[in-house]
Amino acid sequence: MDIRLTNLTKHYEGVEALRGLNAEIKSGSLVSLLGPSGCGKSTILNLIAGLIEPNEGEVFFGDKNMNNVEPEHRNIGMVFQSYALYPHMSALKNIVFPLKMKKVPKKEAEERAKEIAKLVKIEELLNRKPKALSGGQQQRVAIARALIKNPQVLLLDEPFSNLDARLRIEMREEIKNIQKKTQITTLFVTHDQEEAMSISDQILLLNEGELQQYTNPKEMYDEPRNRFVANFLGNPPLNILKALWKKEEDHFVIEVQQEGYDSIKISLQENQVKACSDKITTQTEVGIRPENVIVRKEKKENSIPCSVSHIQLMGKELYIKVQIKNQKMIFIAPWNSDINVGETVYIEIQKALLF
Ligand SMILES: Nc1ncnc2c1ncn2[C@@H]1O[C@H](COP(=O)(O)OP(=O)(O)O)[C@@H](O)[C@H]1O
Ligand SMILES: [Mg+2]
Repeated sequence: MDIRLTNLTKHYEGVEALRGLNAEIKSGSLVSLLGPSGCGKSTILNLIAGLIEPNEGEVFFGDKNMNNVEPEHRNIGMVFQSYALYPHMSALKNIVFPLKMKKVPKKEAEERAKEIAKLVKIEELLNRKPKALSGGQQQRVAIARALIKNPQVLLLDEPFSNLDARLRIEMREEIKNIQKKTQITTLFVTHDQEEAMSISDQILLLNEGELQQYTNPKEMYDEPRNRFVANFLGNPPLNILKALWKKEEDHFVIEVQQEGYDSIKISLQENQVKACSDKITTQTEVGIRPENVIVRKEKKENSIPCSVSHIQLMGKELYIKVQIKNQKMIFIAPWNSDINVGETVYIEIQKALLF
């Protein structure tokens, strides 16, 4: 079921929670709604579910305008951060509950519940009550309950944020698998960019109720449309270097100038630079992803010297905190690089974003 949002707008008293959102969610895809707390993610889900009404704009399922369709007739499955299971009911009873409401015969309902339980891998746990289940297991029950009516749309609002880091990663894969198997059009709300990057077909990134960019994870990372997008994605985060830049024939010259220091000039080829704004001036900010550099101990032409203030081994990578003059940055080097705190290293930029 394709979902189409046109000029979708929601105000609360004094708050413009969502401003004129236009977006199309392709049938069978998994789209993440990503952005900082308060940017309007839950508002979008609730508008799609029909739990709140828009001030302006429409929600379409296929060609059908849903604005006047009651939530219970929208055929939606929803899962929230809090598992919201009935504590006195077994997992099975919880899962079956929506079918019971629809007066589906018990035997048929329970058979269907067992199928779904298998899909979300809790078939062994069906007789337990919620308090005898771990957080991850409870959330699986909640997902099963959301899926049992064969909804045409699955809405998940930060479903894993109460889980510990390891379980969260496991559940990411799980939801991706479930979504692939069922092919249900799914909207997944998260403020965690890594989570969104790892599971989504498309990411819809919001800030303060406004759409920033809507595309696939790779393109959003490589070709951010503005500074907010570039800065929101990536871990460790994007480095931002204050510099002057100008275009010279077939290449770019970037100049780092700071009072009390000699200026540093480096040049970058056209294909190493991505402009992420329509209004780039010569006094700019250059975004450098931590992994988009080569770190060397030997002085080299076209490199920026910086002093190493901190080193951290992260799995198979070395995170190196450095200062370029008085600007703090973090870069990634191979884990076996022989780099020490207090040394000067030379950074060769492979790719830069201009804002
Ligand atoms: N019922 C409400 N009354 C007033 N303001 C609200 C209400 N619900 C949400 N808001 C405000 O609308 C904005 C968007 O909220 P929300 O969609 O919940 O953000 P998110 O889910 O991205 O954290 C926030 O500023 C929030 O405080
Ligand atoms: Mg929310």
